[in-house]
Amino acid sequence: MNSDILLDVDDVARTYSVSKGLFRGRVPLRAVRGVSLTLQRGEVLGIVGESGCGKSTLARLLLGLEDTSSGRILLDGEPISSISRLRLTRRIQPVFQDPFSSLNPRKTVAALISLPLRAHKIGTPREQLRKVEEMVDLVGLPRRILDSPPNQLSGGQRQRVAIARALIMRPDIVVCDEPTSALDVSVQAQVLNLLQDLREQLNVTYVLISHNLAVVEYMAKRVAVMYLGRIVEENETAALFAEPRHPYTRMLLDSVLTADPDLGLPDAPIESSYPSPTAIPGGCSFHPRCVRAFAPCGTVPPSPLRLGVGSVECHLYADSVEQSAPSVRLPGETTVNDREGSLS
Ligand SMILES: Nc1ncnc2c1ncn2[C@@H]1O[C@H](COP(=O)(O)OP(=O)(O)O)[C@@H](O)[C@H]1O
Ligand SMILES: [Mg+2]
Repeated sequence: MNSDILLDVDDVARTYSVSKGLFRGRVPLRAVRGVSLTLQRGEVLGIVGESGCGKSTLARLLLGLEDTSSGRILLDGEPISSISRLRLTRRIQPVFQDPFSSLNPRKTVAALISLPLRAHKIGTPREQLRKVEEMVDLVGLPRRILDSPPNQLSGGQRQRVAIARALIMRPDIVVCDEPTSALDVSVQAQVLNLLQDLREQLNVTYVLISHNLAVVEYMAKRVAVMYLGRIVEENETAALFAEPRHPYTRMLLDSVLTADPDLGLPDAPIESSYPSPTAIPGGCSFHPRCVRAFAPCGTVPPSPLRLGVGSVECHLYADSVEQSAPSVRLPGETTVNDREGSLS
């Protein structure tokens, strides 16, 4: 096994059972459906997609906060389901969207940041304070705020507190779920730059989840695009933005290109037509919204195809594989030489 692979996500799914309303029974809601990913040591992997596509569910699975319905997640080759909660939190930590609700308002900043040290019984109170001061310096907060409650801080400062707490145990991985989405546009770039600096200083690996394409383009080395619980395209960031392959990725990029440039970091639109994960369309789940849909898309689910270093799950590419190189077709996954620009 490649030792640079820190996290290996193998065909992971998470299904919830949701009520349709009084007396109408429960239906399965498939929030994450067969996601496979690898996270290389030291990289930033971006995960992008519209609201409701399963990003936060995937984040909770990666953090071990929820169990997978099927599939498995390996951390350095070990299933996270067999790693104790305490041990897992030393290796993988979250930064969530909302620094307002994720910080207990009755604690001081010092108590909030030192919590992981106390939970793991690391050091004397004096040593813990020294570590907290070091973290506060690293995230660019003044030490005088240590005795304040978090509600006296600005949104950006609170997110710095959350980042300090996530990093105080020097985890290998930080899963950032919409880390700047609740912040003013003017503060977003500062927090992203801080995350970037800390990554280099502390040698930490990020999973960066955002509905905002500009955020992942700025931060990530590789990007995975999620739609209705699946990764529909994955590629190195520059390639994905220069030559999106999946019609859905194209749609997301087009929607951003037409956005008002004065609005700062543009958000991908949250379309009213986004389907419910309780009624996922058959065939390719994107086909009802796809401008490129053709015969097989309504009935046959596409398999992920590896194209160069990236992958895409779309019949436009599968068909070209059958025509050009039928002999390399493998069950479930097809290898083919890069066919750049075949959508244009
Ligand atoms: N605990 C839960 N119980 C039932 N449904 C859930 C639960 N968590 C998330 N969902 C549903 O799963 C889908 C994906 O949600 P989520 O992972 O939060 O998406 P995202 O973070 O991309 O907006 C949504 O339809 C959401 O309503
Ligand atoms: Mg979310």
